[in-house]
Amino acid sequence: MDYFPVFLDLKKRRCLLVGGGDVATRKGRMLAKAGAILRVVAPEISTELRELVVQQQGELLEREYLKGDLDGCVLAVAATDIESLNKTISDDAKQKNIPVNVVDTPALCTYITPAIIDRSPLMIAISSGGETPVLARLVRAKLETLIPVSYGKLAQIASQWRDRIKARFSDGDSRRKFWEKILQGPAAELMMNGQEDAANKFIADELANDHPELVQGEVYLVGGGPGDPELLTLRALRLMQQADVVLYDRLVSAGVMELVRRDAERIYVGKRRSEHAMEQENINQLLVDLAKQGKRVLRLKGGDPFIFGRGGEEIELLAQNNIPFQVVPGITAASGCAAYAGIPLTHRDYAQSVRFVTGHLKSDDTNLSWPELANPTQTLVFYMGLVGLKDICESLIAHGRAAATPVALIEKGTTQDQRVLIADLHSIADVVAANDVHAPTLFIVGDVVKLHDSLKWFKAN
Ligand SMILES: C[S@@+](CC[C@H](N)C(=O)[O-])C[C@H]1O[C@@H](n2cnc3c(N)ncnc32)[C@H](O)[C@@H]1O
Repeated sequence: MDYFPVFLDLKKRRCLLVGGGDVATRKGRMLAKAGAILRVVAPEISTELRELVVQQQGELLEREYLKGDLDGCVLAVAATDIESLNKTISDDAKQKNIPVNVVDTPALCTYITPAIIDRSPLMIAISSGGETPVLARLVRAKLETLIPVSYGKLAQIASQWRDRIKARFSDGDSRRKFWEKILQGPAAELMMNGQEDAANKFIADELANDHPELVQGEVYLVGGGPGDPELLTLRALRLMQQADVVLYDRLVSAGVMELVRRDAERIYVGKRRSEHAMEQENINQLLVDLAKQGKRVLRLKGGDPFIFGRGGEEIELLAQNNIPFQVVPGITAASGCAAYAGIPLTHRDYAQSVRFVTGHLKSDDTNLSWPELANPTQTLVFYMGLVGLKDICESLIAHGRAAATPVALIEKGTTQDQRVLIADLHSIADVVAANDVHAPTLFIVGDVVKLHDSLKWFKAN
């Protein structure tokens, strides 16, 4: 280990910053954020840095650096572009035993500053020992996406409960288990969803519980998007990483499943057209049962759970059983496939509205109002429309939509197997018959399809 990591308390402590340009301003911003009082020395000082110093009642010394500037300072930063001056500041500070950092010159530093992820009071510092700061920054960027912004809030609330939790559990082991339960379970999720009062009540109830060690389960109803795992939301990814068990169906892509916590139990609940690995009622009940066993249950669905996904039915039973749950939207097939096919769903010149329609015509619940779908300025997006494609086209034409209306059939959209077949209402059924097309497919009808040729950008394998 080349450097010993520490976190300094700089509140109300004087720090010397020599330099007044962009780099010095950046350093000044961070020091001020940590509550330091700045003494800034430079012949020219940027407006932002000047304002910062005035705001926190520091000192602005608009002149060349003098050795005496270090007096009374607990830390020094040299951020000038004059090498010899930086060396002088470094030497002077070392002589006075004041920790000194010379920007981008590790050899002159007695401390270096890490790349940080600030979720105050939670703080993560990453350092490459000054060797490859860019790599440290790349690592930071990766971690930034994994650590929710709300963790800071979580840490703040946790600290408010520290004493009461300490008083409730005399032995360290039970206390640790309780903390794990709070920081990984429904209380944490409530806090991160901004429901602070509910989170506090949850913790209070748990503390009052005779068996606080019993874990309360919960369900995450998560939209896994149309296929490309990079289309997952950050929240979806976080919950996928903390679930104990996952119930998933056919439309969830292998790439998305790869991102589920490795040791989570996996239950396939199927759902191919007319072939259900598990009946809907049984899925609903299983979610309740697993959560009652104290598990964090991930219900992972393709696309968005509230768009042709029966997500509403699945959480109804949870609500009736007082099981905590949350719903995480996913990118629905219409948005994903349209984007990857270069077909804007609305466009000022071609379509003023868009309608998502079920193409599952044989279903008892399907009762489409065909005259409403004939409006030529409306884009139609049919889900589950492959089997009934011919009927859909014939009905649209019969109700007044022009036979020459351009259409697109997108197969396995957003994945490396994506295929886009372009035709018109009259000919698409023949085009599909001539190609070996497999579900899932999405059918887009409307003049916006004309844009595909000029706007297509995604290249599947
Ligand atoms: C039961 S619905 C579920 C929709 C999903 N909840 C959503 O928001 O995308 C299934 C239909 O979504 C469409 N679909 C889902 N993923 C697709 C993909 N990657 N490419 C094309 N169509 C897709 C197909 O029309 C499929 O029949």
